[in-house]
Amino acid sequence: MDSALVAAGERRIGWAARSMPVLTAIGERFAAERPLDGLRIAACLHVTAETAVLMGTLKAGGAEIALAASNPLSTQDDVAAALGEYGVGVHARAGVDRETYYRHIHQALDISPDVVLDDGCDLVNILHTERTELLERVSGGCEETTTGIIRLRQMAAERALRFPVVAVNDTRTKRMFDNRYGTGQSTIDGIMRATNTLLAGKTVVVAGFGYCGRGVAERARGLGARVVITEIDPVKALDASLHGYDVQPMTGAARAGDVFITVTGNRDVIRGEHLAAMKDGAILANAGHFDVEIDVRALDELAQAVHRGVRPNTDEYVLADGRRLLLLAEGRLVNLTAAEGHPAAVMDMSFSAQALAVAWLARERAGLAPGVYDVPQEVDVEVARLKLAAAGIEVDTLTAEQEKYLHSWRLGS
Ligand SMILES: NC(=O)c1ccc[n+]([C@@H]2O[C@H](COP(=O)([O-])OP(=O)(O)OC[C@H]3O[C@@H](n4cnc5c(N)ncnc54)[C@H](O)[C@@H]3O)[C@@H](O)[C@H]2O)c1
Repeated sequence: MDSALVAAGERRIGWAARSMPVLTAIGERFAAERPLDGLRIAACLHVTAETAVLMGTLKAGGAEIALAASNPLSTQDDVAAALGEYGVGVHARAGVDRETYYRHIHQALDISPDVVLDDGCDLVNILHTERTELLERVSGGCEETTTGIIRLRQMAAERALRFPVVAVNDTRTKRMFDNRYGTGQSTIDGIMRATNTLLAGKTVVVAGFGYCGRGVAERARGLGARVVITEIDPVKALDASLHGYDVQPMTGAARAGDVFITVTGNRDVIRGEHLAAMKDGAILANAGHFDVEIDVRALDELAQAVHRGVRPNTDEYVLADGRRLLLLAEGRLVNLTAAEGHPAAVMDMSFSAQALAVAWLARERAGLAPGVYDVPQEVDVEVARLKLAAAGIEVDTLTAEQEKYLHSWRLGS
């Protein structure tokens, strides 16, 4: 093992841990109580320093872990090296091709897990299609992201899902901090690192005004950009409009935008007809889970020439009339590829919910039927309470009278 790489990974993990007081506190509790003793976990997560802190917490609780990447471009090789030294089985390397990416997931599954952790449902999908011999042992799982939950709910509706999965994505703490503040800041960070563009005065088109899109729009506006929102949901579109954003279909927005950011979880949000209408120098970035939001094939077909790597993570597509469109991170998650993903302080919240959900599963799994489960409310509240305590922030508590007032319909107003 390259000792310089391991040392760099350890430094990076140590830096992340400084901003993760909740997960660290849970790790200390796990080390004392060992709630995961004997549990084998296969995880498919972004192999980053924050994930390494989660792996350390689960290991402190007694788990044996194999980890594969949930995105080939986001792996931090130094972190992977350091994790290997801690005794976590890591199957990940930055920039691997599709075939290797899936081989790594298979290798993580070779641990024959009791519990699986997924981010986008790839591992659960392989378990249910190609590695069905392992299903009997698996008694629970956690899913980290919106797209993964959508797939799991479809599987559950078709009675295809064979074990209980906790929707870690659906906690109030995760959605608010990870999708909104985390994706919001790191997506803008990725675009700035890749292009060094000045956002003030630019027109930034955000496709999708969900949790992530709202965060991206707020940050872009904060930097002085004019923000245009595209939506398909009338309620979200109205909400965006009342926030003061210009709302348009992509057809109109395509002509106006300097920077385009897709965060819908959908496919073909920016298509050939939109690309053909864009200005010279338009920047295209995706922060939704898969690389299908921007139709990269259509971009390839439109382009007369492609200049790869005009800047790190930036490819320039030259159209027939000389206009240049700049695609960031090959249309994959820009915040993970061109920046460092969510700041550690944000991952502290979702990974703390993840760690407590694994402990909950370890306790309760025998009595749970296959299906998608919400994170128990007490886990959500516990994470927020620990985070507030770490920040030295106190909140009010209900008086006995207030409690009674809120919970008794017999009392009039
Ligand atoms: N980059 C990251 O780090 C990161 C973090 C969390 C989630 N995600 C991903 O981001 C995506 C969005 O997550 P979310 O939590 O905001 O979901 P969400 O469901 O809250 O929001 C998605 C929005 O996109 C809209 N939409 C769907 N199709 C559209 C289209 N064709 N044009 C315009 N709008 C459209 C929906 O109406 C919805 O309002 C998901 O794929 C999720 O997995 C990425």
